[in-house]
Amino acid sequence: MITLAIESSCDETSIAVLENMNVKVNLISTQYFHSKYGGVVPELASRAHLKTIALLYKDALASSSLNESDIDLIAVTQSPGLIGSLLVGLNFAKGLSIKLKKPLIPVNHIEGHIFSSIIENQNFNFPFICLVVSGGHTLIYKVESFFDYEILGSTIDDAAGEAFDKTAKLMGLPYPGGPELDKLAQFGNPKFHNFPRSMINSGDLNFSFSGLKTSVRYFIAKNYPNGIPENIKQDLASSIQSAIVEILVIKTMKAAQLNNINKIAVVGGVSANSLLRKSFVDECNKFDIELSIPKLEYCIDNAAMIGFLGFNKFVNSNNFKSNLSIRANPNAIRK
Ligand code: KG4
Ligand code: ZN
Repeated sequence: MITLAIESSCDETSIAVLENMNVKVNLISTQYFHSKYGGVVPELASRAHLKTIALLYKDALASSSLNESDIDLIAVTQSPGLIGSLLVGLNFAKGLSIKLKKPLIPVNHIEGHIFSSIIENQNFNFPFICLVVSGGHTLIYKVESFFDYEILGSTIDDAAGEAFDKTAKLMGLPYPGGPELDKLAQFGNPKFHNFPRSMINSGDLNFSFSGLKTSVRYFIAKNYPNGIPENIKQDLASSIQSAIVEILVIKTMKAAQLNNINKIAVVGGVSANSLLRKSFVDECNKFDIELSIPKLEYCIDNAAMIGFLGFNKFVNSNNFKSNLSIRANPNAIRK
């Protein structure tokens, strides 16, 4: 069965082709131009999706040596995301569904990230604890099946990706700051300054990152009012990164322990972070926990994860009915 998948919820346009559970092609076009505005400009994002989507669709078919008529199912991101961006992908998908007379399955973007942990490791079975860390979300889930999962904890203010991006901005790094801060931090001293690990002893599985941002702002204003010297930047980046990563790792390990689950998945854009990956590998080895972190291509926003979940939901649902009246929803996170 061939699934054509579409993702356009933020600033990546992506089209993937899957044959059953296997990804044949996963094309991702990132809108790097937002960098000069210091963040994603929603209207420009929608226009860029419009320009790219049909070309990417043609490329995806050509790269997988398939014709339109080979498509059996269309999966598309319906929520959450920027409304204009979501609408471009959803309407393209609806048009295809009408033209090809094939079913359309809507997919929640966060759910897509959760199950991206299984794409390359299909023996990684349920139940597992999943940390979703992206620019907009920081959540810990207990995942029991493709249909059944619950939120165990979430951020009460900024997302982890936002913490990376905002502190990087305070350091004068370009947007998105996460990867830039990661690069700098690799050569720095994480013990240079002890930034706060908020809510580390809160007794629950929630996070808070806004205090870290404020603390970095005051630290820079007090110590480097005329600009951060070059020889300090690596140590500062390393200290910020280690604060964010330590909180994420401790809370996720605690979730596994409290629920007596020996599998952990780490997904979403921030799971590209090198210290986060290394720390999870080390901790999971120590406690004999099976770990799944997708390769980079499946960590960032991508259509393969949307197709993978769409296909699995489709084949595992009883009497699925394609519904062309589905609407884009900017806010939906299923509880
Ligand atoms: O999942 P994603 O691609 O888009 C959203 O749905 O938000 O995540 C983007 C986030 C950004 O905040 C970006 O700075 C962060 O992931 N990110 C990183 C790294 N690569 C991407 N943060 C820290 N270290 C990285 N290497
Ligand atoms: Zn995402």
